[in-house]
Amino acid sequence: MLELRNVNRIYETDGLRKQALKDITIKISSGDQIMILGASGSGKSTLLNIIGLLDKGYEGQYLIDGIERKTLTEKEQATLRSRLFGYVFQDFVLVENETIFENVRIPLIYSTIEKSKHKAMIETALEGVGLAGMSRKRVKYLSGGERQRVAIARALVNQPKIVIADEPTGSLDQITREQVLDIIYNYLDEDKILLFVTHDLENNRRGEQKIIDIKNGELFFD
Ligand SMILES: Nc1ncnc2c1ncn2[C@@H]1O[C@H](COP(=O)(O)OP(=O)(O)OP(=O)(O)O)[C@@H](O)[C@H]1O
Ligand SMILES: [Mg+2]
Repeated sequence: MLELRNVNRIYETDGLRKQALKDITIKISSGDQIMILGASGSGKSTLLNIIGLLDKGYEGQYLIDGIERKTLTEKEQATLRSRLFGYVFQDFVLVENETIFENVRIPLIYSTIEKSKHKAMIETALEGVGLAGMSRKRVKYLSGGERQRVAIARALVNQPKIVIADEPTGSLDQITREQVLDIIYNYLDEDKILLFVTHDLENNRRGEQKIIDIKNGELFFD
């Protein structure tokens, strides 16, 4: 359902030119769980940003259910983002001065899901990450592990088909990391897609996953 064909991504900033992705071709189908490995700076986040409809500055083709992403209107993109994708970013990207509740609500604001259902969905998502009853607390008072769980509740609240997780356990201790992985893997089923950036292949012990390596912007399949 997701297909990249000969995708290149070139950044030109501060007078420097950097080709972050080189001729990437990949097909991703329902049920795929893909671990993405690669050194720092190899292009992992760049790839996820394109797949997650957060970046369209690429060359080549990106098809979602056969439709080229660049032909979508802004509104169609926003709808797809909230309907299809759940994002756990490398640096969480939470709104510090807002409550847990408001942070987890963000994907629902852009969705077509009825407003009357939002509260229950947020509470279910918070229960899922072990933060039930905490929804009124502001994010700035949370620990790192708690923030990460808020980020995951936000990613899963709209029950996305595709979970994009960019090193979601990078800064966590062993026990918290296990908990976070459990939450993500318990969410998956045979239809859902996981794209998971990690430096730690231990994360790969939980299922039938495909492993891809990015080296200097190029993709290698194991
Ligand atoms: N907006 C940008 N403008 C210019 N260069 C960028 C931009 N974003 C990323 N890059 C460059 O593209 C390359 C790939 O970056 P990317 O963030 O995809 O790496 P990564 O594999 O996610 O690394 P890390 O493991 O450190 O998160 C890097 O050399 C980076 O400096
Ligand atoms: Mg990155």
